[in-house]
Amino acid sequence: MIKYIGSKRTLVPRIVEIARRLPKRRRGSRAAPTACDLFAGTTRVSQGLKQAGFRVTANDVASYGEVLATAYIEADSRRVRKKALAAKIAHLNTLPGRDGYVTRTFCEEARYFQPFNGRRIDAVRDEIDGLADGRVERAILLTSLLEAADRVDSTTGLQMAYLKAWAPRSFNALELRMPELLAGGGRALRSDANALAGEMDEVDVAYIDPPYNQHSYHSNYHIWETLVRHDSPPSYGIARKREDCRAVKSAYNSKARAWDAFAHLIRNVRARHLIVSFNDEGYFARGDIAALLESVCGEVATIPVVGRRYVGAQIGIFNPSGKKVGRVSHLTNHEFIFVAGPGAKRLTKSVGAE
Ligand SMILES: C[S@@+](CC[C@H](N)C(=O)[O-])C[C@H]1O[C@@H](n2cnc3c(N)ncnc32)[C@H](O)[C@@H]1O
Repeated sequence: MIKYIGSKRTLVPRIVEIARRLPKRRRGSRAAPTACDLFAGTTRVSQGLKQAGFRVTANDVASYGEVLATAYIEADSRRVRKKALAAKIAHLNTLPGRDGYVTRTFCEEARYFQPFNGRRIDAVRDEIDGLADGRVERAILLTSLLEAADRVDSTTGLQMAYLKAWAPRSFNALELRMPELLAGGGRALRSDANALAGEMDEVDVAYIDPPYNQHSYHSNYHIWETLVRHDSPPSYGIARKREDCRAVKSAYNSKARAWDAFAHLIRNVRARHLIVSFNDEGYFARGDIAALLESVCGEVATIPVVGRRYVGAQIGIFNPSGKKVGRVSHLTNHEFIFVAGPGAKRLTKSVGAE
């Protein structure tokens, strides 16, 4: 799985346990419960829900989010032609490197990958669209490439900067591996969550984990966006971001617009229960979120969880010449899981609700 700020890696078991305990509408004894992850990112939470037997729709506005969701949520490992895929991955691993956009932009103009790996990324990316048999296979091969590139990058997990000295892992050779696909069906979407909320079929549980401050995922993960789109856009600044990073902003990254977007989403989303993640570094106050959820869903429980801040905060603050210049104010953040809908309080008591 790629490094991703705001990823709910450590919270997945808790979120899944809550979702499992919430009462479901009866649709016949064999029908699977349904869930929609509206801001799916890495799809970690979607994967947990899929493994727990939910039929999951994983949505994100990012192109790389759709690719990850197609590979991990939409693809059913029992139907994938694994031998053929393994042969294609082996073939991609033998391709000689080739100078291209990634080498030039992200290895010479910037230093996200060592040039020998950048050339391999260029060669593999050029090959994938012609090699893949259909949309799902393309997504699996792209996921394999994203994860391989992530294992040899030279960042702290964000693509707004690269490390001054090469990260030790960047010296390793790029190696594509078969993603660990899951059994079962699901759906991948690339929509604005607010547009999707009112249009989707009602689900048992909607999981809502929007961006919580001004930092745009489109900018923070511009390399993954470019690798998936394969569109060689003009780039700018030391970070060599895609030109459209100046314009593409989520409403959730704007202090002025975020609350209205969130309130609109909560009022419109078609789900019996909502599970909402937020942390104390975000724009919204805990009490405001709880009050909104209570007014819309009738009942809300809050589960506090302490998390570690992203790896950059763990490392410290440095000036451009690599000297440590400041102290990070805190290394932990306080995350909250809100559960809203009928019976939320009673059901979540045993998982630490307040
Ligand atoms: C906090 S992250 C979600 C992390 C995810 N739960 C995980 O564990 O990987 C927020 C996600 O929202 C996406 N996003 C931002 N604005 C959006 C919008 N309006 N509609 C849908 N997705 C959006 C971002 O691309 C990002 O992946």
